[in-house]
Amino acid sequence: MDTKAKILVADDEDRNLRLMELLLTSFGYDVLTASNGEEALEKVHDIPPDVILLDVMMPQIDGLEVARKLKREEETKSIPIVMVTALNEVEDRVKALEAGADDFLNKPVDKTELRARVQSLLKVKASNDHMRNYQKELETEVAKRTIQLRQALKKLKEVSLESICHLCRAAEYKDENTGDHIKRMSHYASAVARKMGLNKQTVEDLLYTAPMHDAGKIGIPDHILLKPGKLNDKEWEIMKQHTIIGAQILAGSGAKFIKLARIIAISHHEKWDGTGYPEGLKGPRIPLVGRIAAIADVFDALTSSRPYRMKPFSLEEAFHYIKEERGRHFAPEVVDAFFAAKDEILLIKENIETNVKAFHF
Ligand SMILES: [Fe+2]
Repeated sequence: MDTKAKILVADDEDRNLRLMELLLTSFGYDVLTASNGEEALEKVHDIPPDVILLDVMMPQIDGLEVARKLKREEETKSIPIVMVTALNEVEDRVKALEAGADDFLNKPVDKTELRARVQSLLKVKASNDHMRNYQKELETEVAKRTIQLRQALKKLKEVSLESICHLCRAAEYKDENTGDHIKRMSHYASAVARKMGLNKQTVEDLLYTAPMHDAGKIGIPDHILLKPGKLNDKEWEIMKQHTIIGAQILAGSGAKFIKLARIIAISHHEKWDGTGYPEGLKGPRIPLVGRIAAIADVFDALTSSRPYRMKPFSLEEAFHYIKEERGRHFAPEVVDAFFAAKDEILLIKENIETNVKAFHF
C-alpha cells in the first residue's frame, strides 16, 4: 500500500512547478502538478491530495478562487491549502485567509521553510482525518444503538400489550360475551378517534387501552354479572361499581397508556347530559376518550347478545338509537364522527365476527 503523502502543486509557470516538484519529491512525497486553477480542481477531485500548494496569480481561475471552491465542498474542505505568493501586502494575505488558505509561502520558496510548512500541515490533515473518522464511527455506533433501543422499546410494548390481553381475559373469563366485545369495541373507538382527526398515537393508544374499559367487572359478583334478566336497583348499584373497581385496578401506573385505560374505565358510562355514572359528569367535563369509548361500547352492546337482553338490535335500530341519543347520552361531535366512520364500523363488525386475523388482539 502506498503510504506516501500526496502533495498537489498548482502554478502556471512551468519552471516554478518543476522546482517545487523536485523539492517535494526529494522530501519523499508523491507530487501531483497542475498548471492552472481548473486542472488543480480536477486533480483534487480525481486523487484527493493531503496538502495543496496554490500559486495565487494564475490566469482564469486564480489560486484564491480555487481555495474558495475547495473549502466550500464537504469532500475537500479539510485538505490544508498553502498559498504560494510573491505578494506581501497585509491586504493580500487577508484575502487569502478569507478564501480559506491555511498557510502561506513566499516566493522564491525557501527549501527548509517549504519542508516545515508541509510537514506541519500534514499533521493537521492527519488530525482532521482522525476526527472525521472518529465522527463517522461515532455516528455509526449511535445509529446501531438507536436500532437496538427501538427494538427494545418494541419488545417492551409487545410485552405490555400481552399483559393487557391477560388482564382483559381475566375479566372476560367470567363473562363469555366480552371476548369479541372488547375487540370490536376498541376497534370502533379507534375508528371514531381517527375520524375525529385525533393524532395517530392517540388512535393507536385507544385501540390498546379501550379493551380494559370493563376490567372492573372482575369485581362484580357472578349472580349480578351473569343475571339473564333485568337487574333490580340494588344489583344495578353494584354493577355500576365496575367503573370504580376498574379505575382502582388500573390506578398508580406511571405508564401513559395505563393512565389512559384508567380514564376510560372510570368514564365510559358517563353521559353527555350528565345522567351517567359513576360521577354524573356533564358535557366536555367527560374525558374525550371516555366519550369515544361510550359510543363504541353501547353500539356493540346493542348489536350483540347480552345475558340481560335476549335479542340484539338490528343495525338500523342501533344506528337510529345512536342518532337519537346525540347530545343526550353521546357527545354530538362523537356521534358525527361515528356516522362518518359508519362504513369502517360495519367492516370491523363483519371482520371480527368472521374471525379475520387482522383483528386479533
Ligand atoms: Fe362498562
